[in-house]
Amino acid sequence: MAIADEDVAQVRAATDLAALIGEHTALKRVGRRYVGLCPFHAERSPSFSVNAEEGLYYCFGCQASGDAISFVRATEGCDFVEAVERLAGRAGITLRETNDPAAARERGRRQELLAVMEAAANLYHEHLLSHPAAAAARQYLRSRGYDGEVVRQFKIGFAAPSGDMLVRALRRPSALLREAGLAYESTQGAVRDSYRERIIFPIYDASGRAIALGGRVLPEAARKLRGDPGPKYRNSPESPIYKKRRTLYGLNWAKGDIVRTGEVVICEGYTDVIGLFRAGVPRAVATCGTSLTEDHVRLLGRFAKRIVLAFDADGAGQNAAARLYEWERRHELELRVARLPPGSDPAELAGRDPAALAVAIRDARPYLGFAVERALDAADLSTPEGRARAAASALAVIAEHPNELVRDEYLLVVADRTRQDPDRLRPLLERQRANGTNAPAPPSHRARPEAGARSAEAGTRSAEEPPPLGDDGRYDDDSDEHGDPSAPARRRPARRDQRAVGRLDPEGPRPGRNALLLAVHRPAEVAELLDAACFVDLRQRAAFEALGSASHLAEAIASATPETGELLSRLANSDGADELDVGGTVVQLVRSAAEAALRGLMAELREQQRAEPAVELGDRLGPLIETTTWLTSSLKKMNELSAAESDAAAALAEAERLVAWLIHNEAQQSPGAGQRVEA
Ligand code: UTP
Ligand code: MN
Repeated sequence: MAIADEDVAQVRAATDLAALIGEHTALKRVGRRYVGLCPFHAERSPSFSVNAEEGLYYCFGCQASGDAISFVRATEGCDFVEAVERLAGRAGITLRETNDPAAARERGRRQELLAVMEAAANLYHEHLLSHPAAAAARQYLRSRGYDGEVVRQFKIGFAAPSGDMLVRALRRPSALLREAGLAYESTQGAVRDSYRERIIFPIYDASGRAIALGGRVLPEAARKLRGDPGPKYRNSPESPIYKKRRTLYGLNWAKGDIVRTGEVVICEGYTDVIGLFRAGVPRAVATCGTSLTEDHVRLLGRFAKRIVLAFDADGAGQNAAARLYEWERRHELELRVARLPPGSDPAELAGRDPAALAVAIRDARPYLGFAVERALDAADLSTPEGRARAAASALAVIAEHPNELVRDEYLLVVADRTRQDPDRLRPLLERQRANGTNAPAPPSHRARPEAGARSAEAGTRSAEEPPPLGDDGRYDDDSDEHGDPSAPARRRPARRDQRAVGRLDPEGPRPGRNALLLAVHRPAEVAELLDAACFVDLRQRAAFEALGSASHLAEAIASATPETGELLSRLANSDGADELDVGGTVVQLVRSAAEAALRGLMAELREQQRAEPAVELGDRLGPLIETTTWLTSSLKKMNELSAAESDAAAALAEAERLVAWLIHNEAQQSPGAGQRVEA
């Protein structure tokens, strides 16, 4: 591992998990835990729990679980090392150099890139505020209605026309500036600024670090530089700190309102985001010069479950609708479309009629409703021919939706508006679906039982994903990069039809579950009393062993298999440990283990009696019968003592004798102990 274990532990300990998760979902304190709506699946009543003391979260609905590091990985789509780095940054911890030189170099490089990007954004911002060369830019922004407050809020800047202002001011190595996309080397070998005479929109990551810039040309009349100004927007290239597919402009400013309202608005451009903020919708983000990808959608799904598209959704490419439906289903989201006046975008509408913009967002409709409405509006409904055509084109849109009930609802709307008989439209719709190549095939991993769903999600998800929405190569779209396959696994929410094949009780048999609950919450009190041999259920046993071999719960979870770790996270977020009686819990656990052992001995007895002629049984059966007899009486004694409730200590003492025997018995039964096949 590239980061020292102690550093990882320190970062975990220093992170306030409730505060971190509180940026994604509203949490309420309940006893020693916090609860809220799960950021990983759609739900109406809270089943997500955070144990801040232990630094662990668990969702009782979808079984998502983990610690601060896995939370950052899942919500920001980064790898382990980067997640630790971000948390370290939050907590003000400096990670030490490690003995892995390549990893240390990479980390150092990222830090340098972040620092230089921050410096550039600040410098450009100061220039816009006060530099004489920025007068025309200030004038232009004022003409768009941006006052000083807007400029400061979004750290808008200006790159002067001069060729090397930034290079000279920052005094950083040219290779670094070039990797950040801030400078380039001219044909004469001079290092020059990449951004010249452009309005600068700095792009921040979700935690507010500057990672890239977007630079817009000034309008023709305001420009001093002659010649071809290049593209309207010049965006930073991809770099170790900037991945376009996963970046959303504005998320750092918008996330508070997104979490509060459960809604996020996606638009196309920087100025659209700013316009929405100005119109009183401070929960807008924009893709950065690429089209919307599933990574974007997944990232946003960790903040809110309702996503409003404030751009022409199907101007964005072939088969857009099918992808939207698929994303909705896969990420348990609700995608809506805001209807803007033809030819306008949020930026333009915000300047002209901010109230209308806010209403358009409020009245956003499901994509299908939006598309049906548009098809009907485009038609002439005053003639029979026009109505028939309208019905046909609306049905074509409906046919793309995967859900039969949804299709039928909209079919009724179309029948009503076009004055057709629904029963005559239905066969038409089914025919459309049958020929339609547009109906997405049902994804194969859906029908798999739970255990399979986990590995399918963790390992092969990116391979199953459709290409980004709008693969028409608009701007500098980059379709080659895929989602992080090492992202933490998440169990799919149990669907009703899957629950039957899943575990009945996710925490396993009661006695072991209660004992583990004590081992998690009151470890000192049970440390001396319990042993792995007391656990019959293998997952509970593994959990107990993981606890025993680690000094912290988080460490135990990190070292355990995902299944075992999940059980521990779940228990760490379960109440009731305080109410459990230690002695009684131990007795119950020992009883269940001893009874299981007894069943085993009885089976063995029966087996031997069947296999061997009765005369030869004598001395072979002797010890077995003796053990069985002793076990039976010891169990009986323990049960009587604990039932009487008069002598809990005596019951516990008897239980301890049984524990000793269980350990001994197991050692004898363990492979190799009896047979000694290996020399
Ligand atoms: P627009 O052309 O709609 O620009 O491109 P805009 O954001 O509305 O800007 P204003 O309001 O005219 O000033 C929308 C987005 O597409 C990307 C940018 O991210 C832009 O914000 N884009 C556009 C580019 O990356 N490169 C371009 O050349 C043009
Ligand atoms: Mn625009």
